[in-house]
Amino acid sequence: MKNKISDLNIQNLNSKKRIFSAIQPSGSVTLGNYLGSLKNWQEMQENYDCIFAIADLHTLTIRQDPKLFNENILKTYTLFMACGINPEKSLFFIQSHVAAHSQLAWILNCYAFVGELSRMTQFKDKSKKYSENINAGLFTYPCLMAADILLYDTNFVPIGKDQKQHVEMTRDIAQRFNNLYGKTFVLPESIIPEIGSKIMSLKNPDKKMSKSDLNPESYIAILDEPKIIINKIQHAVTDSNSEIKYHKGELTGINNLITIYSCLTNKTLFEIEKEFEGKGYGHFKKIVSEIIISELEPIQKRFKDFNKNYDLIKSYYNKNSEAASLIAQEVLARVYEKIGLLAI
Ligand code: TYM
Repeated sequence: MKNKISDLNIQNLNSKKRIFSAIQPSGSVTLGNYLGSLKNWQEMQENYDCIFAIADLHTLTIRQDPKLFNENILKTYTLFMACGINPEKSLFFIQSHVAAHSQLAWILNCYAFVGELSRMTQFKDKSKKYSENINAGLFTYPCLMAADILLYDTNFVPIGKDQKQHVEMTRDIAQRFNNLYGKTFVLPESIIPEIGSKIMSLKNPDKKMSKSDLNPESYIAILDEPKIIINKIQHAVTDSNSEIKYHKGELTGINNLITIYSCLTNKTLFEIEKEFEGKGYGHFKKIVSEIIISELEPIQKRFKDFNKNYDLIKSYYNKNSEAASLIAQEVLARVYEKIGLLAI
């Protein structure tokens, strides 16, 4: 085991502001994940000190088939590399490989209140969806997420809108701890993109696009083949109107497609309305499919190439988990000292 971060030759300890974010390896990575967070992570690597994780421990809150779960963890790591997350530029590791996450999560459990945990929208939604398995991990999920963030003295957390409440709770726990013991944790702030922070289901524009949706027609997976993408967009729900117009504040299928198009082209809503003036939904959907395909094709190609090189992927996640552990241990030691646990 190396004991200095500089030994690991990873260039990520500098004076830049620190970013931390993570994704669960709970199935296919969707276009929602990509536009709401992943695309932004990739761009942030230039200007921030970035730390990203595959949050596999969080995924255990929903019952997993062990073999499929194992494959999904590796697939998600590889896919993120294919999307441009560079483990030589950013720290990119697997949560369960850094023991400090579970250790700090336990401690934070003791500083989070049952009342605030039971107000979490995600807990309420998932308790309904998985009513046969409302386990304690599902309830204390935000404490593990707080541990993820606080272990790295994180300044900013880039996320989609659905995770905002969890980051707010992280701040509350950190603030409470700091009030009791003096400044220990950095208070993190969310970064939520103005457009694309909540991409909706293609089948039900009231619901967010989700990789755990039982209907695969409701989401575009990053690895979907072109003909599948064309088919899913063609069959995406739109209203009976035929104009390509964005109606602010409404949860309509056309708003969702315009948002996707805007994220991928950087065109404003106004520019898009002008571009498609007098054109129908059929034409618009064709162009939206084309732009999605041209964004995803190079990623799919890189994924295939990386997939052939398991040894390289493994060496990256091992080296990065080691480097992450060194940073996390320092923060954990700070916490041990503050609360009176004996130093390790
Ligand atoms: P997860 O795995 O559900 O999603 C990963 C990221 O994708 C964003 N996202 C979306 N953005 C736009 N539209 C959508 N339809 C959409 N669906 C998902 C999410 O907001 C998220 O940013 N609990 C987290 C994982 C996590 C984490 C963390 C995140 C664990 N520890 C610490 C930040 C910091 C989750 O389940 O994300």
